[in-house]
Amino acid sequence: MVVARTRAEALDWRRQMRAQGKRIAFAPTMGALHAGHVSLIKLGLEKTDVAASSIFVNPTQFAAHEDLSTYPRSEANDLAKLAEAGCSFCYCPLPTEMYPPGDSTRVMVKDLSHILEGEVRPHFFEGVASVVSRLFLHVGPDVAVFGEKDYQQLLVIRRMVQDLGFGIEILGGPTLREADGLAMSSRNAYLTAEERARSAGLARVMRETAALLEGGAGIRAATDAAKAEILAAGFTSVDYVEARRADTLAPFGLECAPVGASGRLLVAARMGKTRLIDNVGFVRRG
Ligand code: PAF
Repeated sequence: MVVARTRAEALDWRRQMRAQGKRIAFAPTMGALHAGHVSLIKLGLEKTDVAASSIFVNPTQFAAHEDLSTYPRSEANDLAKLAEAGCSFCYCPLPTEMYPPGDSTRVMVKDLSHILEGEVRPHFFEGVASVVSRLFLHVGPDVAVFGEKDYQQLLVIRRMVQDLGFGIEILGGPTLREADGLAMSSRNAYLTAEERARSAGLARVMRETAALLEGGAGIRAATDAAKAEILAAGFTSVDYVEARRADTLAPFGLECAPVGASGRLLVAARMGKTRLIDNVGFVRRG
């Protein structure tokens, strides 16, 4: 696997791939890789000839009070996992390759960036869109894969690619879960053993609530009950539990989702000092 640290090295690799007529799939990451990331590489490889990834803990998507300095870093381990998954190239850029001295350009997907996660983390999606657009320019993929675990991020990237005409196909990879249902996440490493055991309650409540919404339960009543159950499961606080339209994340604006509508139930909750997010899809039955 080729490891590039500079934009020039990334462009060089991409030129070689193009010269060989190879289509590139790309799954960007911030490292601390788990099976969920590996599944994104494999999904990309089903569609293309070669897989590329990146490891860059992007400072612009962290607020000053967030975990940038303590975010788990394990590059050697991560590179071994990527190579094992069949990845041919990993871009681990120096910070100055992504944000050159004097840098002052940002990308903002307006509407989607200010709701749900964007309300709690106002800087977050601007940081994500800014770094992902640069990664796309440096790596030049044909297909890019993002986990559905970060569902709102996936929609933000889709919108950005459409608006800026990147010409990259965006694929969503299904969320991988631990045996007890907890969605895989690099941040799960922050949980103590006791918190880890209690965290399984989140996926259970989400599953049960999605089933109620599919059956026609009222949205406000179902999400309020879910919030109470998440707290009863031992979570410290709940930032939001919302059932939204799956394609735009707009509210349904009705008592219950219309028959046949595709929705997404999204949650963010804190277990001690760790903030966990999750989401599940649902379709309202007739
Ligand atoms: O999902 C992530 O790991 C990050 O937000 C991403 C897409 C790699 C951008 O830094």
